[in-house]
Order: sequence, then structure tokens, then C-alpha cells
Amino acid sequence: MRAVALPSGETVPALGMGTWHLGQGRHPEAVEIEALQTGLDLGMTLVDTAEMYGDGASERLIGRAIAGRRDDVFLVSKVLPHHATRDGTIAACESSLRRLDTDRLDLYLLHWRGQVPLEETVGAFQQLIRDGQIRHWGVSNFDIADMMELIELDAGGAVQTDQVLYNLLHRGIEWNLLPFCQQHGLPIMAYSPIEQGRLVGHPVLRFIGGRHKATSTQVALSWVISHPGVCAIPEAGTPQHVRENFGALGVVLEQDDILELDAAFPPPPRPVPLEVL
Ligand SMILES: NC(=O)c1ccc[n+]([C@@H]2O[C@H](COP(=O)([O-])OP(=O)(O)OC[C@H]3O[C@@H](n4cnc5c(N)ncnc54)[C@H](OP(=O)(O)O)[C@@H]3O)[C@@H](O)[C@H]2O)c1
Repeated sequence: MRAVALPSGETVPALGMGTWHLGQGRHPEAVEIEALQTGLDLGMTLVDTAEMYGDGASERLIGRAIAGRRDDVFLVSKVLPHHATRDGTIAACESSLRRLDTDRLDLYLLHWRGQVPLEETVGAFQQLIRDGQIRHWGVSNFDIADMMELIELDAGGAVQTDQVLYNLLHRGIEWNLLPFCQQHGLPIMAYSPIEQGRLVGHPVLRFIGGRHKATSTQVALSWVISHPGVCAIPEAGTPQHVRENFGALGVVLEQDDILELDAAFPPPPRPVPLEVL
């Protein structure tokens, strides 16, 4: 499994698994659990969730999927901005741990920036680390100005990732956030890497995939993780989709492919505010 290094020195797989809509009835629960376990078996051990997802249903499903194999998983969850006070963050984390049926998170993210001062949330993250309830912390949906402010804080240098929207249809981060993070050795965790399924079957991706015996989805994922310091967390609710997504690791895009993708999915012509889904 290709890996991306965190500032802590640990690595996470370049391809992990998202879970926003899991545990909420889109597929039978047993199928979704099998999907997650298939991914773990394949080495896609970075699992992303949040207290927000299905109001805890995603975390509960993951708890069932990883029962007995917690040590195989690099488990990420997120605190909502309106919970991100000192006491609120700690209480939210404890609730996530209960739903996930585990004693620790590997990475705990602030889901997006809200009204609580960053120092306060970071202080809560530090307390959670001291108490052994999380191992690392990071942020999500932080644009460049937020990141610059964050790393200026006393403890800000301990941030491990910025999880943001990044796929062929949303390339704005290439202007400044991505280079900034690369310069600081801070990985980007790309969410919605296949644009919530809307890139599946795209004719240009199909055409390029034809040269690699790959599917359109695999080309889209391969492109995302071809960027240094970028890992991706596609969500797949079936074992078949997980296996297909895993296959993206075997697709090596050539210069011609990249040029065709740039022509079909150009980055914005000028810097744009960070996009969110
Ligand atoms: N931090 C944030 O603010 C934020 C925001 C959005 C997302 N996220 C995280 O990022 C994860 C991924 O993003 P996302 O769920 O928005 O979108 P995504 O991963 O781009 O797309 C997920 C959709 O694609 C389908 N799919 C997956 N693999 C497929 C395949 N091989 N062939 C065909 N369809 C396939 C899935 O359907 P099936 O269920 O049928 O497989 C699902 O409908 C989320 O689950 C969440 O963990 C974070």
C-alpha cells in the first residue's frame, strides 16, 4: 500500500475509506460492514468518520466493523464546530469513543472552523492527547488563511492534516493551500475524491482508463493520490466498490493522461476560496 507521511512520522495509506453515508440504510448493514472489512483486509486502513455522520450512526457501524481488529485501523473522527469548546470537545470525543466502541482515536479533527477560538479547541485536543483518548489532532475545511493562523499558535505545529474537498472538478487548492501544505510537510486528506459518485463513468476518464485497463473511478482516484502528500478517502458501501477503488493504486497515469485530464478538468484560472461539499 502506498503511504503518506504525517508530521508525527507515522504513515497512513494513500487510499482510505470515508463513511459519511454509511450506517443509514443505503445498503444493508451487513453489506456495508463487509465493505469496510474488505477495505481493511486490502490495507485501506485509514477510516474517516465524524460525530455528524448520521448523527452517530456512521461511528456505530464502524464500531461493529472493527470489533476485534481495532489495532488494524487508523481511526479518524471529527468534532462539530459548535461542540469545539474546551469541555465540549472532550465530551464530544468521549461520545464518539463510546459509539466507536474504542478507547482512542488515532486522529481527531475540527470538522470546520466555527466561532470557538482556535486556541481553545487546540487546548482541548492537547488535553485529550494527555488523557490518551486521541493520539493526534488536525483540521478540516481550513483554507490557507486559517492554516496560517493555526500554525502560528504555540501548539499549532502539531496539526497532522487538513481534510478538504479535492477532486478533478474542484482543483482550487492547487493555487495555494496544496503547495503551502506540501512545503510544511502537512498531508491533505482529500474528501469526495470521486465527487460523490458524479465522476463515475465520465467519458474522458473512461477513455483514459481504456489505456490502463482501468475504470473511470480508478482514474479519478489515481489522479488525486498522484499528488505528493495527498491521501484520499473515497466512500464505498459495497465490497465490489471497495475492491474497484483499491485497484486505483495499480493505475500509474502517464504525462499524456495528465495533459488530457488537465484539458478536460482544468483548475480554476485564478485563486478561489476553498470549496466545500
Ligand atoms: N470533512 C468534510 O467536511 C467532509 C465532507 C465530505 C466528505 N467527507 C469524507 O469523505 C468521504 C468521501 O466523500 P463522499 O462520500 O462525499 O464522496 P465520494 O467518496 O467522492 O463518493 C461516494 C459515492 O460514490 C459511490 N462509489 C464509491 N465507489 C464507487 C465505485 N467504485 N463505483 C461507483 N460508485 C462508487 C458511493 O456509492 P456506494 O455506497 O454505492 O459505493 C457513494 O455514493 C466521506 O464519506 C467522508 O468520510 C468529509
